Amino acid sequence: AVNLKGRSFLTLMDFSPEEVRYLLDLSRDLKAKKRMGVFNYLLKGKNIVLLFEKTSTRTRCAFEVGALEEGAHVTFLDSASSQVGKKESIEDSAKVLGRFYDGIEYRGYKQEVVEALAKHSGVPVWNGLTDTDHPTQILADFLTIEEHVAKPLHKVKLVFCGDIRNNMSYALMYGAAKTGMHMVALGPKELAPDPAVLAAAREAAKLTGATIEVTDNVAEAVKGADVIYTDVWASMGEEDQIPARVKLLTPFKVTLEMLQKTGNPDVKFLHCLPAFHDFETKLAKEQKALGHDIREVTDEVFRSRHSVVFDEAENRMHTIKAVMVATIG
Ligand code: CP
Ligand code: NVA
Repeated sequence: AVNLKGRSFLTLMDFSPEEVRYLLDLSRDLKAKKRMGVFNYLLKGKNIVLLFEKTSTRTRCAFEVGALEEGAHVTFLDSASSQVGKKESIEDSAKVLGRFYDGIEYRGYKQEVVEALAKHSGVPVWNGLTDTDHPTQILADFLTIEEHVAKPLHKVKLVFCGDIRNNMSYALMYGAAKTGMHMVALGPKELAPDPAVLAAAREAAKLTGATIEVTDNVAEAVKGADVIYTDVWASMGEEDQIPARVKLLTPFKVTLEMLQKTGNPDVKFLHCLPAFHDFETKLAKEQKALGHDIREVTDEVFRSRHSVVFDEAENRMHTIKAVMVATIG
């Protein structure tokens, strides 16, 4: 039987296929219970701290609501209002927080920081996004796929298009490897994934029969896809690269034409969000004035019947709750 008590959740690569399956099943179970109004206060009396060095809507709210619904207490700290990453080492912050809290969530830049927090705090640490991974997002994505695609995960073909060198691309590779999925990273050669990441994912894939491909051929990549997934073209902290990315990534924008090329009338569209699908935000407007269309997906696709992005966003909460319950509940 799977037991994840006391474990940190830094990357899916640390978890066996059975453990990933367990977390998805627990998520489904907690979601069903919430729908029925049943709460078992599985985190009663626990204290949780959320550290954010980058901004967030979904991840922060998922941790807060998930924790509170199970009876835990939450403290939110960002870089502006705490000493973390400024006046003392991560090791010292970890040692202090480990004495106050039962679990620590961290969102920031380097994966090494979340690893150091886990090493020195003595309590489970959960990765709420780094430059190279976003493991809680994958649980939500895969739960959503199971809800909307009538196939087991190991029969699903998922195409991630755009910046295939970012945290979502890598997290999806790791998730595919652990579930036996056929994942295609579709993007330009200039943004080719780190060979070490690809090699590690392909090594793990041997255990499940997963296939992880990298290509810049749109028509070949999307053929027969069950899921088309994209993300912003410039991640948090990379805003200065927007003009270069628009040039490189426009051929990989998700359009209705791309969905048609899958040949699958029921193809699903996923996006971790937040998404630029219109020019409503200040950033998109400014860039438009400079002649850059930063939309990674057309509004037509985003609002189509193919799009399950808001179910996916809701599932952040159920899956993050499951991670907390499994590790400290
Ligand atoms: N998908 C995601 O992590 O969203 P936030 O940045 O709003 O947390
Ligand atoms: N790649 C994006 C994901 C946001 C959830 C970023 O890191 O900004």
